[in-house]
Amino acid sequence: MHGKTLTFLLLLISIACLDLLLTHCGRSDHKQKLQKQDTVLLTKHWESPIPHQEIPEGLTSISAASCGTCHAEIYKEWQQSTHAVAFQDPQFQAELKKDNIITCLNCHTPLQNQQEFIVRGFINGDYKTPWKEVNPHFDKSLQLESITCATCHVRDGQVIGALGSDRAPHKTLKDPGFLSEKLCLGCHNVVDEASPQLVCTFETGDEWNANWAKREGKNCISCHMPSTERPLFPGMSKRAGHFHHFPASGIPKFKDREAGRLESMEFTESPVHPGYSPGDLLNYQLKIKNSFAGHNVPTGDPERFFLIRYQWMDASGNILKEEVHRIGEEWQWHPVAKKISDNNLKPKEERVYPFTQLLDRAGTYRFRVEVTKHRMTEENARYNQILGEYPLSIEVYSKQYEIAVE
Ligand code: HEC
Ligand code: HEC
Ligand code: HEC
Ligand code: HEC
Ligand code: HEC
Repeated sequence: MHGKTLTFLLLLISIACLDLLLTHCGRSDHKQKLQKQDTVLLTKHWESPIPHQEIPEGLTSISAASCGTCHAEIYKEWQQSTHAVAFQDPQFQAELKKDNIITCLNCHTPLQNQQEFIVRGFINGDYKTPWKEVNPHFDKSLQLESITCATCHVRDGQVIGALGSDRAPHKTLKDPGFLSEKLCLGCHNVVDEASPQLVCTFETGDEWNANWAKREGKNCISCHMPSTERPLFPGMSKRAGHFHHFPASGIPKFKDREAGRLESMEFTESPVHPGYSPGDLLNYQLKIKNSFAGHNVPTGDPERFFLIRYQWMDASGNILKEEVHRIGEEWQWHPVAKKISDNNLKPKEERVYPFTQLLDRAGTYRFRVEVTKHRMTEENARYNQILGEYPLSIEVYSKQYEIAVE
């Protein structure tokens, strides 16, 4: 680490020195050659943050906390969203420390105001060696607000809205096109490789684009920001508005935190009878359909998965037989990241998971069916040293039956 920083510093110093020398000697052709060879400039939209934003006229700050002094309900909702803690996420912090890839910040703390450094390019095109300068306008408290109000609402000294309100105390621009799903796709639909072991594969936008939800006029906002009608400022008349919790997976970010869940799946079971005779066959089926999500489930983060677990137990709850099925992607991360398999449920796709048990002996049994949604495997949490920092999974469906065989 030390050695690397040193070479990096030396390189920067030599670029700076050459810069001085060359401008003074007028040999700018040499300068261009050096920079071209060593530094790859930023070309993809997420390689750069949203440029530095000034405070819109009529306000004293662009922090969410300050917006919240007037828009109190929206502020409270946003605080519960994962957007509000995208920087504090323990896995994000662990990966950032380990790999030091500064571009990660462009989606997790997307405003230049929230970033300690201004990045000009990458030396030898490597994300791990950015050509960076200290940002004199870095705002630490804004950094801790992660994907904050201003990420989506402040540009060029104006608050962007879709209503065209003429009673806001701040300078406001009506731009519904900007506040459309295109805004979401800038972060939720990106495929790229940061290093051979670290890749971005967010294809939620492409999945949505090809399916029923788009045809029926539902987009990221209509599902994840449900409509409501309420005043935007205490005492003012009601307006058409949107909840800002951004519910989805429902897996809480921190132990003391609730997370909004949107249910994507419809579950249909074959009947289970309370009594059977010895020699009968229990022929159980659970049908799972992605009825309600406008994209695959899981989507986005390739580490997410569902488990369908069947347990056949004796009367005291000892497990006699267990079967587990998985819905998700499987990746190899070393030596290079590569997708190995993908059985994510496509929009409206359904799949049947059977369980059969020969009831050959009289007795009382228990049969348990459980579907859980997971953020990542325990193994991966252990690898990142964040086991126990937050819940890794939640239960999304469960049933337990008592079965008498006599
Ligand atoms: C600046 C980048 C960015 C923009 C713009 C953005 N998101 Fe996100 N979004 C993220 C990140 C990063 C996370 C994950 C945060 C975490 O888990 O730590 C996330 C998480 C989410 C989640 C929660 C997923 C879960 O785990 O339950 C939903 C839902 C979501 N975003 C919807 C939207 C919608 C809808 C829009 C557009 C109105 C949008 N996002 C715009 C970056 C962005
Ligand atoms: C001093 C109180 C106050 C503060 C602080 C404030 N707002 Fe507002 N805002 C209002 C009022 C009042 C309206 C108009 C409500 C109406 O038309 O019903 C409004 C309207 C809006 C609208 C809708 C505009 C439109 O035309 O669609 C948005 C979006 C908005 N504010 C975002 C923000 C953001 C983001 C911040 C923080 C950077 C913020 N506001 C800070 C009071 C405030
Ligand atoms: C028709 C409704 C619908 C639309 C349209 C929709 N979503 Fe979702 N989304 C859902 C539901 C339901 C879930 C919950 C999946 C689950 O965990 O069961 C979800 C989950 C998510 C998640 C969490 C991923 C995970 O597997 O944990 C993210 C992120 C997300 N959506 C982003 C988006 C974005 C971005 C768009 C726009 C391109 C979008 N959604 C469009 C309904 C929708
Ligand atoms: C990830 C992007 C995103 C973030 C973060 C976000 N908003 Fe919004 N906001 C939107 C979208 C999209 C709309 C709906 C625009 C429309 O009407 O189509 C909206 C609408 C609004 C409105 C207009 C009334 C309404 O509910 O439709 C206000 C006011 C507002 N937001 C304030 C805030 C404040 C305050 C924060 C921070 C506490 C915040 N927003 C954070 C995307 C965001
Ligand atoms: C193009 C925008 C973008 C960039 C760049 C980006 N992320 Fe994210 N990140 C997202 C989005 C969107 C989500 C939410 C995805 C979902 O839930 O489907 C997310 C979620 C995460 C999560 C939360 C996973 C969970 O289970 O809740 C971690 C950790 C993370 N990113 C780490 C990183 C790291 C490390 C980097 C840099 C190598 C990075 N991200 C770069 C957009 C981005």
